[in-house]
Amino acid sequence: MTAKLFSPATDEAVRECSEIIKSGGNVVFPTETVYGLGANALDPKAVDGIFKAKGRPSDNPLIVHLAYPEDAEKYAYTNEKYYALAKAFMPGPLTVILKKREIIPDNVTCGLDTVGLRVPSNPIAHRLIELSGVPIAAPSANKSGRPSPTEYAHVVEDMGSDAGAILDGGESEIGVESTVIRLTDGGVEILRPGRVSPEDLENAGFKVTVNKGVTHPVANDEKVASPGMKYRHYAPKAKVVILDGERTKVIERMKAEYKNGCGILCFEEDAEEFGKTNVQTFGRERDAVSQAKRLFDSLRAFDGSDVKIIYSRMPDSNGVGLAVTNRLLRAAGFAVEKI
Ligand code: TXA
Ligand code: MG
Repeated sequence: MTAKLFSPATDEAVRECSEIIKSGGNVVFPTETVYGLGANALDPKAVDGIFKAKGRPSDNPLIVHLAYPEDAEKYAYTNEKYYALAKAFMPGPLTVILKKREIIPDNVTCGLDTVGLRVPSNPIAHRLIELSGVPIAAPSANKSGRPSPTEYAHVVEDMGSDAGAILDGGESEIGVESTVIRLTDGGVEILRPGRVSPEDLENAGFKVTVNKGVTHPVANDEKVASPGMKYRHYAPKAKVVILDGERTKVIERMKAEYKNGCGILCFEEDAEEFGKTNVQTFGRERDAVSQAKRLFDSLRAFDGSDVKIIYSRMPDSNGVGLAVTNRLLRAAGFAVEKI
């Protein structure tokens, strides 16, 4: 363990961590979505440290976190639509891709001429950015490929040996990463779904399209709108297979696989159909918000068992369910069996 641990994250601890950021180090901090691994976005060496600590591919750009929506002026070319989005959703779980200004180092954006900007609502995240006095580049604080961390124990496990410090902010409120959008001629395009759903964006007056990569696999050599789409993500050690079909039939199949020693990832209402071991639930069947909050923790929990295959129920993909479906599909490497 080399990371300085701050549990709980007192104001004094946040202040000490802001000094670490200022001096070029990195800090794991809570946000309302998932934990992030942050460093000074204007310091290419500090940014490089993030890629090393995570084992992140060098072509997957980082989101830059700001204390206030107006700070975007300094780092990107904004427009009316950005401010309309900011008014509706910031601070909060939305990342907007804009054309970047020169001041943002190339390794933050991996050579792209755009940058993702987000203003987190979590008070610890906000205070850390404000005290640091710089924008904070931060990916999710997991080792590359693993489920994003939604609890203090997850970040200690993944980053305890590699981060400069870790701030304990308890359980993440939302549980899946921010909605990533880019601006299109007519409206916005979702590159990664999150707690800000297509419906939320539409209700705020934006015409919404969803990039195909959100629900479909992309080939390795295909040009993608967001580099994150290329990688297998959120994966526990065991293989995940999603079963899609009518509840009774899916449960019947799951019971048979459970007898063979497979893991079960199901909704709370289904749990009584199975025993106590090798079974994890992710929220309630008709409540995507509860599913988002539980999914990554449940995927991680399987790493403590020796199951080789996990059978999961397919969530509904409406509203926030699009984010849950997207993460589960990626965890499964798009392995879906229709029943
Ligand atoms: O909720 C979140 O967004 C969390 C917390 C810590 O803020 N952060 C997060 O970062 O999820 P990360 O690095 O795990 O995911 C960033 C995603 C990746 O899929 C990346 O490809 C995409 O955003 N992205 C970043 N900059 C981009 C850009 N300029 N153009 C397209 N996609 C971009
Ligand atoms: Mg991530």
